[in-house]
Amino acid sequence: MPTEVVPLGVPGRSKAERVRAMFTRIVPRYDLMNKIMTMGLDRAWRRAAVRAAMPRGALALDVGTGTGDLAIELAQAGARQVIGADFCEEMLRAARAKVQRRIADGALAFVVGDALSLPFPDATFDCVVNGFLLRNVASLSEAFAEMSRVLRPGGRLVCLEITHPPSSLAPFFSLYFNRVVPLLGAVFTGEAGAYQYLPRSLGPLPEASHLAAMIAQAGFVDVRYRRLGLGTVALHIGKREEKLEQRHRPRPSGQLLHPLSGER
Ligand SMILES: C[S@@+](CC[C@H](N)C(=O)[O-])C[C@H]1O[C@@H](n2cnc3c(N)ncnc32)[C@H](O)[C@@H]1O
Repeated sequence: MPTEVVPLGVPGRSKAERVRAMFTRIVPRYDLMNKIMTMGLDRAWRRAAVRAAMPRGALALDVGTGTGDLAIELAQAGARQVIGADFCEEMLRAARAKVQRRIADGALAFVVGDALSLPFPDATFDCVVNGFLLRNVASLSEAFAEMSRVLRPGGRLVCLEITHPPSSLAPFFSLYFNRVVPLLGAVFTGEAGAYQYLPRSLGPLPEASHLAAMIAQAGFVDVRYRRLGLGTVALHIGKREEKLEQRHRPRPSGQLLHPLSGER
């Protein structure tokens, strides 16, 4: 079992509480820092994730939507309706403000929701995506089980996340990630701690092939992945198996919201 890596914060608080508090602090500079750290490549990676999700005409969910970039790309790629869910209200506030500036067709809604207990009925979505979420959840297997639960049979899961780089690039990547990124974070956000957590959070994340196996174990078939960004980012794709099995924990009826009734 991998060791749990948590952002620094008040001792005794859970990983979820610390992650939420950290993202609340970095919201104002989150988008800027993404662009700086990835040299602007983050947008191309999100677009690759959206293409893999094949969202045209779909009811799509973006889990850990943050400031909403993946959700917006899904809407612009022709999804019938997109829900962006995140457990950090400040992130969602920034996402809504961005949407008001860019899209006004109401096909996009942002809701508060925990990836480990999503506020949607079983088999709701045609596709579920997530970007840079997996390192932050307290339990990967629970997160995959939840995403499987809310996908309709045959629906697509797409996960975009930093991954362990090929060994030829490891020294360069380690220097960049462990030294340069925290420095950039300190300069541009004033939150060095958040950008020290970022490389630390990669440590316990399984290798891309192991992650693919975990996704398959959660009820997905045709699971595959490819590397982007010189092998430093992985895009995992899977299809929810067609046969519905009662493998997931039953939802308490009070949590069964229609996707849009949870809109805030
Ligand atoms: C690194 S950001 C990624 C945001 C966005 N997907 C992107 O591509 O930029 C991770 C996001 O996941 C959210 N998050 C982390 N753990 C979560 C959980 N258990 N449930 C819901 N959201 C979570 C954080 O609040 C944050 O907004």
